[in-house]
Amino acid sequence: MLKFHGLLLGGSLLAGLAAPAVLAREPQAASSPAPAGDARARAEAVVARMTTDEKIALVHGLFPPMANGKTKNELIPSAGHIDGIPRLGVPLVRESDASLGVANQVEQRKGDVATALPSGLATAASFDPEIARAGGAMIGAEARAKRFNVLLAGGVNLTRDPWNGRNFEYLGEDPLLAGLLGGAHIAGVQSNRIVSTVKHFALNAQETGRMVVDARIDEKALRMSDLLAFQIAIEKGRPGSVMCAYNKVNGDWACENPRLLTDVLKRDWGYRGWVMSDWGAVHSTAKAANAGLDQQSGQELDKALFFAKPLKQAVENGEVPVARLDDMVIRYLTGLIETGAYDAPMPATAEAISYDQHAEVAQRAAEAGIVLLKNERNLLPLAASAKRIVVIGGNADVGVLSGGGSSQVRSVGGAPVEVPLAYGAASSFARITYHASSPLEALRKALPGVQVDYVDGRNFNATVEAAKAADLAIVFATQWTTEAQDVPDLRLPDHQDALIDAIATAQPKTVAVMETGGPVLMPWIEKVPAVVQAWYPGQRGGEAIANILTGKVNPSGRLPITFPASAGQPPRPNPVGLETMNSLEAQAAANPANAGNFQFQSFPVDYTEGADVGYRWYEKKALKPLFPFGHGLSYTSFAYRKPKVTGGRTLSVTVEVTNTGKRAGADVPQLYVVREGAKEPMRLAAFQRIELKPGETRRVTLTAEPRIVADYDTALPGWRIAGGRYRVAIGHDATDRKLTAVTTLAASTMKP
Ligand code: BGC
Repeated sequence: MLKFHGLLLGGSLLAGLAAPAVLAREPQAASSPAPAGDARARAEAVVARMTTDEKIALVHGLFPPMANGKTKNELIPSAGHIDGIPRLGVPLVRESDASLGVANQVEQRKGDVATALPSGLATAASFDPEIARAGGAMIGAEARAKRFNVLLAGGVNLTRDPWNGRNFEYLGEDPLLAGLLGGAHIAGVQSNRIVSTVKHFALNAQETGRMVVDARIDEKALRMSDLLAFQIAIEKGRPGSVMCAYNKVNGDWACENPRLLTDVLKRDWGYRGWVMSDWGAVHSTAKAANAGLDQQSGQELDKALFFAKPLKQAVENGEVPVARLDDMVIRYLTGLIETGAYDAPMPATAEAISYDQHAEVAQRAAEAGIVLLKNERNLLPLAASAKRIVVIGGNADVGVLSGGGSSQVRSVGGAPVEVPLAYGAASSFARITYHASSPLEALRKALPGVQVDYVDGRNFNATVEAAKAADLAIVFATQWTTEAQDVPDLRLPDHQDALIDAIATAQPKTVAVMETGGPVLMPWIEKVPAVVQAWYPGQRGGEAIANILTGKVNPSGRLPITFPASAGQPPRPNPVGLETMNSLEAQAAANPANAGNFQFQSFPVDYTEGADVGYRWYEKKALKPLFPFGHGLSYTSFAYRKPKVTGGRTLSVTVEVTNTGKRAGADVPQLYVVREGAKEPMRLAAFQRIELKPGETRRVTLTAEPRIVADYDTALPGWRIAGGRYRVAIGHDATDRKLTAVTTLAASTMKP
């Protein structure tokens, strides 16, 4: 992996990466001498037998691409490596990125493929924790077989801005949805007796200037939004580790922020595992250690090896208490013990993987997450009457797009299209990469007897002619996004809007399939009768798209993120700091000898929307989005009837859900709630995905998450349900108010 983010490493380093240095065989972990029982007690007993040097060695990790010679163990090119202590049974740890599959960013492990799930937003769009869990379990199994035992795999940062380059990795804009699905994903990974990491703690909400930005927000709002997503994910998934973020939060770096790391995470939430830094996110020794950072990751990427010798000195001179160093190590071991990683050594050599079975997991996730945004005149599923179909653009003849950065998987089947970046913050470790799953081929297979042609869309007039000549056109729109860079605006790049507009003008039966990182503007929406949001659909994306278009699979995804109608609707129209960054980059490029003088300085972003993220912002500002959060069509229809609301100590609703159409399908009834009279938007308090046969009715019970009903009270401190009358809506999306009811709740409080 060639990073990094502001540290831009040169191409020469890349050359050294191809062949991993095999220095020695990894020692077999001895059977643990630690007493059985409570994980922390067991960790304490091991740490009690350690020398100071042994403790220090466990709290800073190597960055394999830059760590040659620093270990006698085999150094697999990946994100991180921490030697074990064989005499005490402490296992060697190998870390890999793995949000969407075991990552292999710029193919630093030549030929090492893995199964690529669709993007996080696609999984979130399933509104199904089981889909998230299965994806995590699949990734964990592959990681273990490849000898990784700590995965950097659980991004739950809330989407505050639709232009964030990393939205595709995360789980959308709602804390309950992101928390529940993030937790399920983590639990799935850890079912393989390895660790998953929840990240990036916290408020790493934009990529522009991510290493310097100061994210500002008040505590109440933070607790009720981004932190709540983490809190729920941690409760549900019990991750062995938490990764602190690059940015500052309210003036203090996230990785040396005592409020976040010690007060919130460890004290209020009782978190027992360890806090690892993001790669290149550490700025100090004593301050960071005393604030609650337990481990410096990828140490070569920081300005200093803060948690190596300097930490030892800080402990010796009393700046960092011995008890704190012990706690750092105890937490590391607790995370390993609780997840089972401690007692389940990695295989000595890579093991075989059931890639075929795993591809099914990826396909199921893609099919559950694709969202049918619009379907006028039931243009979809593709009617048998379409005898000549033209597929246009998006490299749909060879594959499907994926997102860039540390989560990049080199998928089974390889990369039919791979474009390096000439410049930009991501250029050292990201390439525009397609997975080898061709929607064109899948459509041809699914539609025997239909002539399915392909034009790549580069010749504008010829493309429009081809659309006109066919019975129906399917145009693939792409927007590549990546870690380390935000998209400059929400328009599709490369004049795709003009092309789609012209195609739809020439061919009234036009379907747009969107392979985008997140929401884009759709200036042509009135002209295009059917729009399918396919996200980055993963290594079986082509098959999944074909199944949705042909109706073999009934679409069931729901938007986990609002699609704005115009750039001016979201709280911030463009990435904050982008202009400054562009100008600094240009100046640095023009003055290579003094490039260091043009560094990005810290700058604030005030999250004035507070906890009213996403759909809540739209309701608060009375804005009508293009497509609301929770929206998604089906080839059948669903009705909600006879709601019964129960109040008292908990709020729950039972409602009859009926499939009123002619096809089996899945629906996601959503429960939104707000205190009567409060001038606040409604919040998603519960949801459930259910499958119904045609005509089938089921009663569903939706029980509100109490912390969504409550407000955070900093004076208490804790969650407070004010009590009184609460209004609920049982809806198909965040704006659906056709079925509402009122109930009375008792006042109550909950711990932070
Ligand atoms: C990213 C993390 C990732 C780490 C290791 C960082 O740049 O922000 O998400 O886990 O690198 O690759």
